[in-house]
Amino acid sequence: MALVGSGSAVPAVSLSNQRLSERVDTNDEWIRTRTGIAARRVSAPDEPLTVLATRAAQAALDHAGWSPEDLDLILLATSSPDDLFGTAPRIQAALGARNAVAFDLTAACSGFLFALITAGQYLATGTMGRALVIGADQLSRWVDWDDRSTCVLFGDGAGAVAVQACPAAEGGLLGFRMRSDGSRNGCLTLAQSDTHRELLAGVSAQVGGFAPIRMNGQEVYKFAVREVPAILKELLEATGTPADQLDWLLLHQANQRILDAVAERFAIPQQRVLSNLASYGNTSAATIPLMLDEAVKDGRVQPGHLLASSGFGAGLSWGGALLRWSGPQA
Ligand code: UT7
Repeated sequence: MALVGSGSAVPAVSLSNQRLSERVDTNDEWIRTRTGIAARRVSAPDEPLTVLATRAAQAALDHAGWSPEDLDLILLATSSPDDLFGTAPRIQAALGARNAVAFDLTAACSGFLFALITAGQYLATGTMGRALVIGADQLSRWVDWDDRSTCVLFGDGAGAVAVQACPAAEGGLLGFRMRSDGSRNGCLTLAQSDTHRELLAGVSAQVGGFAPIRMNGQEVYKFAVREVPAILKELLEATGTPADQLDWLLLHQANQRILDAVAERFAIPQQRVLSNLASYGNTSAATIPLMLDEAVKDGRVQPGHLLASSGFGAGLSWGGALLRWSGPQA
């Protein structure tokens, strides 16, 4: 498949570290030095995920020069859907993409990468021709705003990439790896809350609803700095790609220290590591397409550029992909 268009959207309200410290016991210096984050976006109550994701999706369609009817597939990677039965169909309707099948995929912060790889399989078999892969999250809904160890990290956002089938030699997904380790699931959860209701004598049912995000930050940090370099090394070796051939490192934006550690491992200079953590924090499934769209639109990422990407997070899940950006086709 070829990567031919990108788009993104973020809520208007930006919450600085300074403002956040008026609410919870933290400070700008701690957050900046430990994470690289200076601010995050927070969706307004009347701004559901569908709206944010549709804005990003429409921008990617416009960038690719496609009309909505051209789409065969819309994949939405998210952990914060508007509807647990699926939010992608709402986006399909909002776009007017009546020929596309649309469904959600959940793999937390690895979600966008997993969805991109999944879309790539449909395109590679020739079953489908054009797809839109969206990563969108509103973790502001699910953060415990009194838990300073997590609430400073997350923000809301959406990004999308338009991909189309193409001859293998011109493909933009040069290799990939995906991993899960459910035995470490407890390190980072947004789990069903443990509430029950007695319906009748002897018959109880769970009440739907989720507990806020819980994270063992140090364990997740150690996992990321161990597994991300390992999976990228495996990928670069398997594709015969020396690290100095990479134009960009496009990692899930979780913590600047994680980006720095991975870059150091491959001796990739700072100026080739894409980072917008300072402005948006960790937007979960949205970080990779949000970052990519920013770098495409400001001209850093050019057609033909090679990017090593990695998503990682809850599951635990992680993955890597070697990508080549094509840009809009004439
Ligand atoms: O999308 C993927 C998911 N998430 C991640 O990738 C996150 C990975 N983990 C991390 O990025 C880091 O572990 C954090 C940024 C979450 C935390 O950094 P840390 O260096 O591991 O800090 P820590 O948890 O060891 O806490 C150090 C101290 C503690 O105080 P004491 O016990 O040493 O007195 C915390 O209570 O910092 C305190 N602390 C804070 N202080 C001010 C924790 N959060 C805050 C805060 N403001 N927001």
